[in-house]
Amino acid sequence: MSVAKIALVGCGPPSRRWHGPTLTELSKRGAIEFVALCDLDETLAAQCGEAYGVPHFTSVDEMLDRHPEIMAVDIVTGDPSHHVLAKAIAERGKHVMVEKPMAITLAGCDVIIDACQRNGVHFEVAENYFRMPKQRAVIDLIEKGILGDIVRVRYVDAKAQRPFEQTARIRGLTRPFSKFGNSSGMCMDMGSHRLSQLRLFAQSEPIQISATVKRYRHSDEFISEDWAHATIEFESGAVGLYETSRLGESLAHYQITGTQGGICDHQWSHPAIPLRLQMGEEWKDVPIEFERHKVDGVDVLSRIVVHTDPQIVYVNPFREYAIDDWCVGHAAEIMSLADAALNKKEPEYGLGGRKDVEMAMAIYESSLNGSMPVKLPIAETTSYERILHEDYEARFGRPIDAK
Ligand SMILES: NC(=O)c1ccc[n+]([C@@H]2O[C@H](COP(=O)([O-])OP(=O)(O)OC[C@H]3O[C@@H](n4cnc5c(N)ncnc54)[C@H](O)[C@@H]3O)[C@@H](O)[C@H]2O)c1
Repeated sequence: MSVAKIALVGCGPPSRRWHGPTLTELSKRGAIEFVALCDLDETLAAQCGEAYGVPHFTSVDEMLDRHPEIMAVDIVTGDPSHHVLAKAIAERGKHVMVEKPMAITLAGCDVIIDACQRNGVHFEVAENYFRMPKQRAVIDLIEKGILGDIVRVRYVDAKAQRPFEQTARIRGLTRPFSKFGNSSGMCMDMGSHRLSQLRLFAQSEPIQISATVKRYRHSDEFISEDWAHATIEFESGAVGLYETSRLGESLAHYQITGTQGGICDHQWSHPAIPLRLQMGEEWKDVPIEFERHKVDGVDVLSRIVVHTDPQIVYVNPFREYAIDDWCVGHAAEIMSLADAALNKKEPEYGLGGRKDVEMAMAIYESSLNGSMPVKLPIAETTSYERILHEDYEARFGRPIDAK
């Protein structure tokens, strides 16, 4: 049986923790062929090449020249380079997948879309959260109407929580993003995951966003927002609430409220789904089982069984692999890329990655304009994006959409 031949670009922390090991496990069991990897840092490239048993390179062009059999490339580099690398690799006729967020602005996303269209290749975005088993089960419950009509979805997210500093002052968002490191601000970093989940929970497209984004600390170390709050109106009439914070006590949870039930989950990656359904006048807990087994010593999920009537069952497609619940998300995105390369199948998420960036752009734009609502889809380049494009050109010496 022929399998997709895939290469990896970028060997930073998420690559070493998740992409590299998952590509290796899928390759070991014959689902794909992990051909080669590349990182600008020679030592890192060599270490990873040795760990995964694949040839390593420090130049993407050299890797593609030496291995013309490569069909698709998994790009795990910092956000500002996604569109540049994806375009260059698509121009070589290879299918591409970029980590989230798809690009730093919508113009960056469109560089990827355009390059892939012109070269007849597919693109995927490595949004992994909705592909994790528990989240698949939650979305399945919503799609099957178990919660009734979804009326409100909420995500309160906390990242690297720190005590509130007494010297901190409230600052609005001005020129928020100028270092072009590996993250493009909280609403783009964890935000792209959470905005994706909110959209999928609501099962509807956002039509308007109002938001406030603040930066409290004044420090060169922190260049982007450390708090943001957004109200999202969905086409269906459902309301979305998103809050992200680095300051004060952690309050992380998500809540999905439907006309017949709800989920209020304080441990989003913990194997439990606190589902409650309305039965008559009362709300009742619904039992949910997580069945597990071992593969090569790894604790692997077999199935999730939701005891509704009829039962809803999620079967882990990677139950025969030594892949934990977290990496099931990465395995699924890699197989989506593989399927696109081998069978010309439309990748599972693709344009969804652009929608996540669009929601984040609307949050920043609304905040810059005194929380005025921003309509979606965004029809023209926002003032926030224009600032970012100016900074990008000043830093890299070329426009973001350079031909
Ligand atoms: N899905 C998730 O759960 C998750 C978690 C963390 C990070 N991420 C995303 O992963 C991406 C990478 O994050 P990071 O922290 O590793 O970034 P990083 O900037 O620290 O590291 C990226 C690596 O890519 C290499 N690189 C950069 N340009 C290259 C090029 N042209 N050719 C070859 N190698 C190149 C660098 O040398 C570096 O080793 C980011 O977009 C981030 O948002 C996703």
